[in-house]
Amino acid sequence: MRIRLDRLIASQGPWSRKEVKKLIKAGRVRVGDRLARRPEEKVDPEAEPVFLDGEPLFYRRHLHLLLHKPPGVLSATRDREEAVALDLVPEALWRRELGIAGRLDKDAEGLLFLTTDGELAHRLTHPRWKVGKVYEVDLDAPVGEAEVRAFAQGVAGFRPARLEPLPGARARVTIEEGKHHQVKRMFRAVGREVKRLVRTRLGPLELGPLAPGEVRELTPEEIDELYRAVGLEEAD
Ligand code: URA
Repeated sequence: MRIRLDRLIASQGPWSRKEVKKLIKAGRVRVGDRLARRPEEKVDPEAEPVFLDGEPLFYRRHLHLLLHKPPGVLSATRDREEAVALDLVPEALWRRELGIAGRLDKDAEGLLFLTTDGELAHRLTHPRWKVGKVYEVDLDAPVGEAEVRAFAQGVAGFRPARLEPLPGARARVTIEEGKHHQVKRMFRAVGREVKRLVRTRLGPLELGPLAPGEVRELTPEEIDELYRAVGLEEAD
């Protein structure tokens, strides 16, 4: 696949196309063993390695990140005042196209998925693809069989959901939509208040042992499973 050199480099790092042009003009980019001179030249990154300041760019069409969002951080890539999820991502992994697939409320915690693949993000959050999102919640009072039945039928106008009571005033809930404040609204509809909300799973992705504030790239196996879950071919 041949792609414009400036677009290629911009897609692999935090630089804008304008900044990439400057890098090329400054003689900091090589393609194979020659100096790159024209931002618009087309290159095949799989056939000819591209070097920036002597370091090879390992070309990947997309980047997929799993973040353990702590409470108090906005599910956003930028904000003028508040701490956002992207602040937790090392700069080497910043990409202009990085977006969040399925936001969490500011006070919510857990699995946040960021990807540069817009179609993947869209499908993960669209109910048509039935991707299960699992949340563990602390409530103001326990739930029992009545609430399990109510969730199974659908509460507050939402689709049926699976509710599993956990010891104490805790529960696990699985939903396939992702509407604004959905889990809190569902519990409110059965007279409970969510005190703490942690997303532990998104389709085949599990939060696992990632500590709050930590971020990691998906493994090739996870990427495979994720694309399959929404009927897409893996793009890389
Ligand atoms: N449901 C909510 O109420 N909040 C979230 O952050 C996610 C799901």
